Amino acid sequence: MNDQLIVIFGGTGDLAQKKLLPALRKLYSQGIDQPVLLAGRSNSDIHEYIQDMGIDDYEDSFLDNLYYLPLDVKTGDPEELRDKVESVSNKHGIDTSYTFYLALPYFLFTYTSSLIQNAGLNTDDSKIAFEKPFGKNLETAQRINQEIDGFKEEQIFRVDHYLGKELVENILTLRFSNPLFQKIWNTESVKNVQITMAEDMGVNGRTGYYEEAGAIKDVFQNHLLQVLSLTAMDKPDSLTSEDIRDRKLEVLEKIQDIEPEDIVLGQYGFKEIDKNNIKGYRQLEGVKQDSDTETFFALKLHLNMDNWKDTPFYVRSGKMMDEKYAEVNVVLEDDTDLFDSEEGSENVVNIRIQPDSGVSIRFNSKGSGGIEDLEAETMEACKACRQLLPGAYEHILEELLEGDRTMFVDWEVLEQSWRITDSVVETAEHQETEFPNYTPGSEGPEGAEDLIDDGSWIKLNRRSNLQ
Ligand code: BG6
Repeated sequence: MNDQLIVIFGGTGDLAQKKLLPALRKLYSQGIDQPVLLAGRSNSDIHEYIQDMGIDDYEDSFLDNLYYLPLDVKTGDPEELRDKVESVSNKHGIDTSYTFYLALPYFLFTYTSSLIQNAGLNTDDSKIAFEKPFGKNLETAQRINQEIDGFKEEQIFRVDHYLGKELVENILTLRFSNPLFQKIWNTESVKNVQITMAEDMGVNGRTGYYEEAGAIKDVFQNHLLQVLSLTAMDKPDSLTSEDIRDRKLEVLEKIQDIEPEDIVLGQYGFKEIDKNNIKGYRQLEGVKQDSDTETFFALKLHLNMDNWKDTPFYVRSGKMMDEKYAEVNVVLEDDTDLFDSEEGSENVVNIRIQPDSGVSIRFNSKGSGGIEDLEAETMEACKACRQLLPGAYEHILEELLEGDRTMFVDWEVLEQSWRITDSVVETAEHQETEFPNYTPGSEGPEGAEDLIDDGSWIKLNRRSNLQ
């Protein structure tokens, strides 16, 4: 990795504060000590700013690497930006190698990329990273992509932090280095695939954004479609980012249009717990009292691929659910007809993305009764219980600095993801669901359970959950 200056636009925002700076500090402790210029809309100097963020435990040497430029990307002066970037670079002996990170809402992307260009900072060695969401639909995404065309695609890194999660990256390793999994990963053996991303929190004060986005655009368009494509893709010719991208694209192109009956939407309501009230989504400040924004969705998708022709993919996500976890369950066809037992169950390969990330397998073994008696057992390899795994943003920033594109979203994949998402959202708009329809702390609305043909959402009993 050559020396480079990292410039974070939105440097005083939530993402910088909660994710990017802690990740950079971690990398710093591992010897990655690139200087960081935070550009943000606060007038304080760097030390006041750091204090305002409540960061009092950063070592002085890390703070010595941090610089601050008060800047509004809409009205900012390109010369001022250039002067600051050059003075910090000179101090650290950096030529013209810049990594710009736009931790900003999508409607500021074009202003910022023009500012960088007008400042003459779009050098051959520079890279630009865009935090998700990249647009609010296909049309805005296409427009932004055109408007930032001063940067070449190989300089552009579109961030989806789920790709930085260890177990998401591990999906390919598990699938393609183990005949154990590879041989069963097909429509003959797999009854269905279930992908869940559940959160036990609400929208954390981001109501303005969420009212426009809703759960489908917030996490299906990016995180869950990425997980789905890694789970379903054919074996790539190699592990290069191009070959992986091509295989992902094939999956996305083969997702069939969704039928209205294959969508279940939800919005959480109010709940009283021991006189402490949890506000319903509609009671939050900044949310319309009759808001139709979904905070939960469950979808049934079909892939027009030989390998998956009879296997539905179920995807669900929701705010304010019973717990925070994300996982993929690959549910195999039941093969217990030889045994006369109620207890046998389908085999499941569970890829736990978080927390306690790892892999579990549910299988049948002999129960305590006679030879016909079955009992389900779960075998678990909890990677996160054995070793400290790097956080998603550490991973993302490291790869960004290396210039490795595998963990980032190429334009064609992003475009296709928006195409699918727009069509799901449009179909969902014809639904007349009465909101609110689920209680905080539950698994979402009842209808989500009925979506699964001949079965239910799988939740394994994992040992790492039992204290
Ligand atoms: C973000 C979404 O992309 O991912 C948030 O905008 C969501 O709504 C978050 O809470 C979840 O990320 P993680 O890493 O905590 O699962």
